[in-house]
Amino acid sequence: MAESDIYGNFTETLFAVKKKLELQVLAWNEEAAQRGEHKCFEHLTSRVKTERSMRDKLLRRGLEETTENALCRLTDAIGLRIVTRFVDDIYRVKAKLAALPGVEIAEEKDYIQNVKPSGYRSLHLILRCETDAPDFYGRVPGQFFVEVQIRTIAMDSWASLEHEMHYKREGGNRALIAAELKHVADDLASCDLSMQTIRNMIREEEA
Ligand code: GTP
Ligand code: MG
Repeated sequence: MAESDIYGNFTETLFAVKKKLELQVLAWNEEAAQRGEHKCFEHLTSRVKTERSMRDKLLRRGLEETTENALCRLTDAIGLRIVTRFVDDIYRVKAKLAALPGVEIAEEKDYIQNVKPSGYRSLHLILRCETDAPDFYGRVPGQFFVEVQIRTIAMDSWASLEHEMHYKREGGNRALIAAELKHVADDLASCDLSMQTIRNMIREEEA
């Protein structure tokens, strides 16, 4: 298989599935603005995993570099990251995703309830999304996985910095750096908690 075709004929479909979900999610904020309500989330980013990182991940997992494995065994060829302002918004976003037509939550990992040893916090969902186009097995509507990471601004800023500084890094000061980063993650989580408390107080006053 050529270096550029791990997704076979499905590259366009992957971008289409990503785009459709993205537009559905972006519409929530537009609707909220029209109703004069608070935003559901702060911003979102998305990507189709590059050829290189998909092949690397297949290798790491001991899977053959095939289109079927890239699309059907691994579940993060398409990725969406939704960044919220408050912790409770994370679970609101999850409920709204689950309610979308043709979207089903196939798997959930709650790294907010079960914080990773690194300090990483985030709600990870694997969605099974239906699309008009056929999938690898020829099913119509086709089914494609999308990995969604939902986290607060504070969780997101930590994850971005930690990813750059430490994630899966080797080296002499590794343990010390990891411990410091864990401290920062816990401090930020405590800020998130305070912000949530303040928001709840404001809401009670407004009610
Ligand atoms: P990979 O980590 O992608 O091989 O998959 P996995 O099956 O271990 O999934 P998991 O849910 O643990 O994490 C998937 C993604 O979450 C990663 O690719 C990162 O984007 C993010 N992530 C998980 N743990 C960490 C962490 O400790 N730090 C940072 N910065 N990101 C993390
Ligand atoms: Mg991982």
